[in-house]
Amino acid sequence: MIREIELINFKSHKKTKLKFTEGNNIFVGISGSGKSTILDAICFGFFGTTPKIQKKRIKISDLIMDKPFKEESANVKIIFESDKKNYEINRSIYLNKSSYAELRENGKLIAINQAQVTEAIEKILKVDYELFSKVIYAEQNKLDYFLTLPPGNRMSDIDNLLKLSKFELARAKTTSLLNKFKNQKNMREETLSNFDERDLKEKRREIEEYLEKLNKDLSSLEENTRKLNNQLEEKEKILEDLKEQKNKMENKKNMLIELNATISVFQNELKKLPEKDLGEIEKKLKHEETLYNDLEKEKIKREKEISFLISKINELEKALAEKKEGELFLQTFDEERIRILKKEEEDLKNTLVTCELKKQNLDEAIKNLKTSKERCPTCDRELPEEKRKELIKKKEEKLFLLNKKIIDLKNKYSSKKREFELENKNIEKANFFKKRIEQLGNVEGELSLYQKKLEEIKCKEIDLSDIKKEVMNLNTLFEELKSAEIKK
Ligand SMILES: Nc1ncnc2c1ncn2[C@@H]1O[C@H](COP(=O)(O)OP(=O)(O)O)[C@@H](O)[C@H]1O
Ligand SMILES: [Mg+2]
Repeated sequence: MIREIELINFKSHKKTKLKFTEGNNIFVGISGSGKSTILDAICFGFFGTTPKIQKKRIKISDLIMDKPFKEESANVKIIFESDKKNYEINRSIYLNKSSYAELRENGKLIAINQAQVTEAIEKILKVDYELFSKVIYAEQNKLDYFLTLPPGNRMSDIDNLLKLSKFELARAKTTSLLNKFKNQKNMREETLSNFDERDLKEKRREIEEYLEKLNKDLSSLEENTRKLNNQLEEKEKILEDLKEQKNKMENKKNMLIELNATISVFQNELKKLPEKDLGEIEKKLKHEETLYNDLEKEKIKREKEISFLISKINELEKALAEKKEGELFLQTFDEERIRILKKEEEDLKNTLVTCELKKQNLDEAIKNLKTSKERCPTCDRELPEEKRKELIKKKEEKLFLLNKKIIDLKNKYSSKKREFELENKNIEKANFFKKRIEQLGNVEGELSLYQKKLEEIKCKEIDLSDIKKEVMNLNTLFEELKSAEIKK
């Protein structure tokens, strides 16, 4: 029984939800209000199609609402009950993608996609679209379907629709099967009546006895097999042990062969060994070792000496360089020039003093001439005004020249003095070098002496490698002989 149906965007239904109750349910409405559409939706919900679609009068997409606005999708939901189970169908169609369908039984998803859902519904309702559309849901104006069938075919068409022809076929097959069984039953009854029961019982007893005997034989055979299996297991264990022992024996045999080979190698080597006195070799070895040690000590001593000589030579080379530097300085140092400078400085100083005196005299004479009237201040002769003025003028000219000379002299004197002081410093340096050269003495001689000594020592360098080799040879010989002695 259908409990509920919901249509969304399905033809003229924007969103319609209808609940059905027990008994008859009737849709009432004016023409075009959507009553037939509800039946279409039920048919579409169950079987994914409608009579108009089947007859190709419309396409599935025409089911989607296109007025007043074109919608993208439509959905039909049917909730129904069958065999005390609740089912819910949902089918959706879309304008531009493939449609979707699902079926749930008591909430659990049991089919997905249009074909699966239709197949499941056909099983649940035991009705297919053909029967549903002809017998249960009569399309508008098609209630007269049965009347339109041609009278001659009417029976068989209705049988086909209701699948009644299957029952007719089954009935015919059952009759023929029944006859077959009846025949068989008769045949068996006849066979049975020919049997001698006592004879059969005797035979059965014999067979049972024989069977019992066979069972007994079987169990004794089984017992034997078990015993034999145990024995086999034991023997296999022994075989395993024997194999292991064989392996061990073979290993030992191989070891023995190897040992024999080693022994013969050693014996050959023993034959080859020189027959020398071990004591003698040892003595020689000791002697060579002491020789080697002494030489090594000597070598170390010489190395120390060499390093001492090298440091001494370095020292002397430094001193020589210092001496050469001093000598070079003294070569360019000019004592005479300093003396001349001193003299020039003194001369300049004396001239300057004389000039200063002259200046003082001139100053005084001019002052006197300016104060005296009519008489000469030096000779006291008559001095006319004209003459006096001339004298003053002459003296003043002289004083001017003298002043110029004094300035010039002062400049010359101070530059000379500076020159002299500079040169004077070199005197100290020269004295230092003189003293140092005296101290250093014959550095060249000493240096060449040490260099000669170093050359001599280097010429006599000790080569320890030969004697070391000799000691090593003796040592190996000694070891070989000793081990040979032990082997013997
Ligand atoms: N895809 C559609 N979108 C919108 N309206 C539609 C669509 N297909 C059909 N219709 C309209 O649905 C109405 C049909 O309703 P119908 O179920 O036949 O009414 P009733 O059976 O109550 O007379 C018509 O008015 C028709 O124009
Ligand atoms: Mg109608």
